[in-house]
Parts: sequence; C-alpha cells; structure tokens
Amino acid sequence: MNSFTSIYESIGGATKVRQLVEAFYPRVQAHPLLKPIFPDDIQPVMEKQYLFLTQFFGGPPLYTEKYGHPMLRARHLPFPITPSRAQAWLECMHQALDEVEIVGEPREQIWSRLVMSAHHMVNQPEKTDPKSNR
Ligand code: HEM
Repeated sequence: MNSFTSIYESIGGATKVRQLVEAFYPRVQAHPLLKPIFPDDIQPVMEKQYLFLTQFFGGPPLYTEKYGHPMLRARHLPFPITPSRAQAWLECMHQALDEVEIVGEPREQIWSRLVMSAHHMVNQPEKTDPKSNR
C-alpha cells in the first residue's frame, strides 16, 4: 500500500466492504446490548453502512450521493449509545475484520478511525443502577 492507494483499494474494494458488512451485522443482532436498539429488518441498515464505509475508506462517495452529509453523531442521537454499547460495537467490528481477513497496515488505519468514530458516537452515560438511589 503506497501513499497513493486508498484503504478502499488496498483491501479489495466493493467486494471486501460487502463482506465486512455481512460479517458485522449478524454479530450486532446477536449482541445483548446492541440487539435492542437495532431494527429487526437489518437489510436497510446494512445497505447504508455499505455506502458509508465505502466512502469512509476512501472509495466513491456513495453515502453522500444518496443521503447527503453523513452527520453521523446527529443521526445516532435517537439511539441511546452508552460507553459499553460503543465497546460492544467495536468488539463486533473487530471480529468482523478478523473474519474477512483485513490485516496489516489497512487494518490498523481502519481500526484507529473506527475507534475514534465509535467514541464520538457516545451520547449517554452508563445507566445507573435504579436501586442505587442516585
Ligand atoms: C458506537 C456504537 C454504535 C452504535 C451503538 C450504533 C448504532 C446504530 C443504530 C441503532 C443505527 C440506526 C439503525 C436504524 O436505522 O434503525 C445506526 C445507523 C448507522 N450507523 Fe451506527 N452505531 C455505532 C457506531 C457507528 C460508527 C462508528 C459508524 C461509522 C464509522 C456508524 C455508522 C452508521 C451508519 C452509516 C448508519 C446509517 C445512518 C443513516 O440512517 O443513514 N455507526 N447505528
């Protein structure tokens, strides 16, 4: 991967982004912390994530062409994202990246950007224990 090659190209383009999305959402749907905030019909979410990750990795700006500026934090505000949900999201993504064998330098770049984005998405403190009287 030289400095002129995008992450998108170096991981294998559209095919790889699709595989990543397909490896990620079954894990999200199986995760006890994530399942309740995602719709049962996950297909539309998968499609949006495919469009978004394509441009996030330096491929064509498919998400913006269809939906405008991503404004991801704002789009996530309707959903209660706690620090532990961000951690859960990242765990699912880590396993998905392993499954589709995204490795080496592109993996490191992808990972650090996703970690930053996931933390940025947090919009609620951890739920306090209802019995703790606070
Ligand atoms: C930090 C933990 C995260 C949680 C718990 C989370 C959860 C969600 C939920 C519940 C939705 C909406 C599903 C629906 O349409 O009903 C969503 C949409 C989406 N998420 Fe996340 N998300 C997280 C982090 C991220 C990150 C880090 C990215 C990108 C790097 C991302 C990208 C997207 C995109 C592109 C959509 C579709 C937005 C749209 O409606 O157009 N999410 N996410």
